[in-house]
Amino acid sequence: MKEVQALYQWYMNNKRDLPWRINQDPYRVMVSEIMLQQTRVEAVIAKYNAFLDLFPDVKSLALASEQDVLLAWQGLGYYRRARNLKKTCETIYFEYSNQFPQSYVNLLKLPGIGDYSASAISSIAFSEKRPVLDGNVIRILSRIFALAGDPKVVAIKKNFQKCLAEQFFYDQDPGNYNQALMELGALICTPKQVKCELCPVSTACLAKERDQIELYPELVKKEKKVKVFLYFYMDLIEDQIHIADQNWKNYQEGYISPPYFESNVAMSDLEIQQNLKLDDQSLMVQFKHSITKYNIDCRVYAKSNHVIEKYAQNNLAKTGFLLKALKKFKVI
Ligand code: ADE
Repeated sequence: MKEVQALYQWYMNNKRDLPWRINQDPYRVMVSEIMLQQTRVEAVIAKYNAFLDLFPDVKSLALASEQDVLLAWQGLGYYRRARNLKKTCETIYFEYSNQFPQSYVNLLKLPGIGDYSASAISSIAFSEKRPVLDGNVIRILSRIFALAGDPKVVAIKKNFQKCLAEQFFYDQDPGNYNQALMELGALICTPKQVKCELCPVSTACLAKERDQIELYPELVKKEKKVKVFLYFYMDLIEDQIHIADQNWKNYQEGYISPPYFESNVAMSDLEIQQNLKLDDQSLMVQFKHSITKYNIDCRVYAKSNHVIEKYAQNNLAKTGFLLKALKKFKVI
């Protein structure tokens, strides 16, 4: 598509002067991509140079103390990224003799580097022909090609990937082209207040032609899950497991459960004790269980290990959420 070249040219003439764009040093590119994963460009700009002053290369980050790294990461949040970035540098420095992996496939092996980061780093630092599909790119593609469907659905996302790779990619300079798409999404093809009049590819945009920009992408709003508290009591009747005859349907139709009661607010220990007629010696496990419309807070009580083992011997109890409880009780 000829617009691909127009987009590339637009970027080369208009790109913002961002600190990670001064060269293609893979370490600098990696740090920027990790920081930019969950943090806005403005917030990253404020932190990026100071971080690189402290840790200018793989070696310095590999040898730094974790505390110093976390301190320098302050303000960016999601500290797991900082820990993984340090681990990645340790791997490169100690295990790869400080040789930075130069391909998408080898970058993927590093801690905290997933498909998105490996594509971005390999294309920007090593000019590997790897399209990068992030939220910005999804929005752009959905509009240009009037792509229907929620891109959060795996099959639909695959279609977006195919469309990007086959119809809207510029493989002469993939690193800059990927950033051109990101730039277009950040500055022009934004979620709201779209600036179509400035867009270098508006002539090819189907959504614009149909005056339907706001309809894309077709993100389906997630239904908010209902919070439920379920309190179960494993019990035996004549040495056989006691199964609830309550209507279990809303939560896991078809699965058995011990007797329980439910609440839409958390209950105090005393209330639970009274409702389930527990004694002080009762064993308890607690876990969260998420199904379709519900976020369930589960507590499962039992009088003794013998009771739990009886449930564990029953194959029907080893299904659905009860399986989770039995694992928590460490009987299976
Ligand atoms: N978001 C993720 N990577 C980026 C980059 N290299 N430039 C601008 N925004 C980005």
